[in-house]
Amino acid sequence: MNIWYEEQEHIFSLSNERISYIFSVEKDRYLSHRYFGRRLKRYGGSGRPYFFDRGFCANPLPEDRTFSLDTLPREYPDINQGDFRCPAYVIQTEDGRRVTRFGYKGYEILEGKPGLEGLPSVYVEDEGEAMTLRVTLEDEVIKVRLLLYYTVFQDYDAVCRHVEVVNGGDQEIYLERLMSMSMDLPGTDYDVVTLTGGHMDEKNINRRPLTSDSVVAESIRGSSSPQAAPCVVLMDREAGEHQGEVWGVNFIYSGDFQAAAQVSQYRTVRVQMGMNPLTFGWSLGAGERFTVPETVLVYSDQGLNGMSQTFHSLYQKRLCRGAHRDRVRPVLLNGWEAFTFDVDEEKCLSLAREAAKLGVELLVLDDGWFKNRKDDKRALGDWTEDERKFPGGIPRLAEAVRREGLEFGIWLEPEMVSPDSDLYRSHGDWVIRSPHYDPVLSRNQYVLDLSNPQVRDYVIRSVSDLLERADITYVKWDMNRHITDLGSFCLAEGRQRELSHRYMLGLYEILETLNSRFPHVLFESCSSGGGRYDGGMLYYMPQTWASDNTDGVCRLGIQYGTSLLFPPVTMGCHVSVSPNLQVGRSTSLAMRFAVAMSGNLGYEMDFRRLPEKEREEIRRQIAFYKELREVVHKGRFYRLANPREGNLAAWNFVSEDGERVIFCCYQILSDVVRASVLVKLRGLERDRVYRLRQDGSCYGGDELMYAGITARPAEEDFTGHIYVFDRVTEG
Ligand code: DGJ
Repeated sequence: MNIWYEEQEHIFSLSNERISYIFSVEKDRYLSHRYFGRRLKRYGGSGRPYFFDRGFCANPLPEDRTFSLDTLPREYPDINQGDFRCPAYVIQTEDGRRVTRFGYKGYEILEGKPGLEGLPSVYVEDEGEAMTLRVTLEDEVIKVRLLLYYTVFQDYDAVCRHVEVVNGGDQEIYLERLMSMSMDLPGTDYDVVTLTGGHMDEKNINRRPLTSDSVVAESIRGSSSPQAAPCVVLMDREAGEHQGEVWGVNFIYSGDFQAAAQVSQYRTVRVQMGMNPLTFGWSLGAGERFTVPETVLVYSDQGLNGMSQTFHSLYQKRLCRGAHRDRVRPVLLNGWEAFTFDVDEEKCLSLAREAAKLGVELLVLDDGWFKNRKDDKRALGDWTEDERKFPGGIPRLAEAVRREGLEFGIWLEPEMVSPDSDLYRSHGDWVIRSPHYDPVLSRNQYVLDLSNPQVRDYVIRSVSDLLERADITYVKWDMNRHITDLGSFCLAEGRQRELSHRYMLGLYEILETLNSRFPHVLFESCSSGGGRYDGGMLYYMPQTWASDNTDGVCRLGIQYGTSLLFPPVTMGCHVSVSPNLQVGRSTSLAMRFAVAMSGNLGYEMDFRRLPEKEREEIRRQIAFYKELREVVHKGRFYRLANPREGNLAAWNFVSEDGERVIFCCYQILSDVVRASVLVKLRGLERDRVYRLRQDGSCYGGDELMYAGITARPAEEDFTGHIYVFDRVTEG
């Protein structure tokens, strides 16, 4: 890994053994993107664009009519100087104008990777793991500097970028648009991929050709949202799941964002990621500094799957943190789908007893445990137990669950308040709302104003009180509505546009405090399932409930799509009852397990009511999973067939040491002709032999990868089969 500056040609180059990221300084002022791709040993500028005197081009240098910013491939483009594509930033000066002139000032090379204050980010454990380039642009009139950060890693094919704005002048400036990164790629021959969806239909992978338009993925929901993920991927048209060039861009942020791929008239593509200008605005006083959250850029010449594997390993090892990062995660039982709000001590305890017998390790008490919470119309914000349901309180229950041999976890939705709650009655001004209108309800609740330090204190105090009183080792942190009525009683009138981002900063502060106070607690993020499944949340909570949809068939697509960015260990996946409560589909217990075991396994049903046969099956499932979960949690993941595109879903895991392979194959509908379906595995060693555990048969790695394995013909709808292979020295 290295970063160097070539003085003659003014070229910055960041490289490791596999990738290079290159840009130049043109005319001593303007940063110009040159290359992001496979590692180049030497760069002489062969791909430099030609310049012409073109119609409608503005010329910032009067002596050169061929030079225009509109034709230059750029790194962090401005507005008002003749680049008429999307700017990366718009800064308003005190006089209300939006004309600025930033030019290159200098650079520094730093060992390691600096953190982003108050924000989640990829980190290093040792300075030798990464190097960071900091380039300074300055507007000499208003004395404002833009610091552009680029980190390259020894072991990951990723570049992290973010920006700081430093106001060194004496006037207040207004940040109107701020991207975390911008990059112009040559040509337009790309497909663009985004992740879209909705509640219970998260993470659909959408691939389509980039034409002459812009593709924009964004959220103004106060959350990264299930509707559009903060991610945009460009692919060479010929690239596929396992081959070809792919550029992936993912924002490490959990709030509103805008991601775009914009085609220019000169046949180039501008890719951007950053704050959503619809809900962002920030007044930056003299001497103040603003940090834009970080974006991770991944290059892969091994198709989408290669890109995903880089995101997976980087996020798993250098974004997730804390004691649970490297631990296998407990098999849990959550009562939500079985009991909803109707919970009590006796139910929980009898459930814990049954769960322990089947091998479950963690019992989770979901919604409904606190005072007055008999349905979703009340009580959010009053985080003390309902003594009628839990006469000995949560501490006594947690202790009793412990005695049954299980850990104890609890559900919370700390960012919210119900209008019918003591908290709202005493602090009506703590909600996000405008003073002029009644705020809009969603799931009968309002959002607390986390930009207010008193509110943050309250949230930290109430969660801490519970975690201090009771032996709780897991928290499911829910967030079940999006933000409307953007207004804060604690922000000055001129600063109301800061609320969306201040909300996120407030939430991150709360989570950071709780993480450091309770390092033993495993936090699972949830927002009606995968509504806030993003890199920002993973920094504080190493797993996310992937979807409220627990149907085995729907889950195939949701988990497949989620894996575009996030590793299976981060996905909460539960086996629930059949017929499924969301879609009414009946599937076998084996199928539901085969899907849920491809992530972080849990169950969501009333174990007390199961027939003996199912209990026995679950006992076997859990034992099987425990034996193999190290491979699922830490191994490499290969997508093989996309269930949202056909009748088949398939993927395989390869353990870190290469010794074990788990191949998962699902057929959605049975096929009357029973056609043979071959699936080719990935990531095995060609010259080694693998023994199938189920029957002892042996196959070459080359055979499994190049000839493939025939999926067991489905005799009924909705089947899933798991094949476990052990690598052997001889066949
Ligand atoms: C939404 C979550 O996704 C569910 O799993 C459950 O926890 C409910 N909230 C509880 O209100």
